[in-house]
Amino acid sequence: MTSPSDLRQAFGQFGTGVAIIAFHDRESRPVGITVNSFASVSLEPPLLSWCLDNNSHLYPDVAAIERFSVNILAADQLDLSNRMAGAGSHILAADEFEAGTADTPLLRGALAQFDCHIRHKVEVGDHIMLIGGIDKAAHCPLNRAPLMYFRGTYVGLELEPQNG
Ligand SMILES: Cc1cc2nc3c(=O)[nH]c(=O)nc-3n(C[C@H](O)[C@H](O)[C@H](O)COP(=O)(O)O)c2cc1C
Repeated sequence: MTSPSDLRQAFGQFGTGVAIIAFHDRESRPVGITVNSFASVSLEPPLLSWCLDNNSHLYPDVAAIERFSVNILAADQLDLSNRMAGAGSHILAADEFEAGTADTPLLRGALAQFDCHIRHKVEVGDHIMLIGGIDKAAHCPLNRAPLMYFRGTYVGLELEPQNG
């Protein structure tokens, strides 16, 4: 049987981008949480997913949401990523977001923004999986470096294609 620590290290070999999920909490405050469990799911219909730890203090808020956004972070958003990953520091400042569909907060300066409604909430193991229907997607046309995460730490990414 693989230990949770070995499993965490094995999962960590999968280099990912970093996203902030933004939504309104139960007190209508705009909040964000840093995740790397984002995945594209379907083009037609347009769907994506992400997962939240059952132990997150945001769990009761997420269990109640009807809308959220996924914001793919650029390398220059490392400080925001750290802030939204710290316990008890999830409130977004007014100048950090703009209003999307039905007031969903969309983060300024992100490489891409997905404005979503909830399609499914699935309790799976020690996480809840959120599957979102994408109402609107936007992306930055500039060749900006993404924020990346690998083996438990942020890493830089060479933007030159590696075609062998
Ligand atoms: C790069 C990175 C990726 C993360 N990915 C996830 C994730 O996919 N799901 C999750 O629940 N928490 C994830 N976290 C942890 C949360 O961002 C946050 O640290 C944690 O939820 C803090 O506890 P709280 O939610 O109780 O405030 C990630 C943290 C970092 C730094």
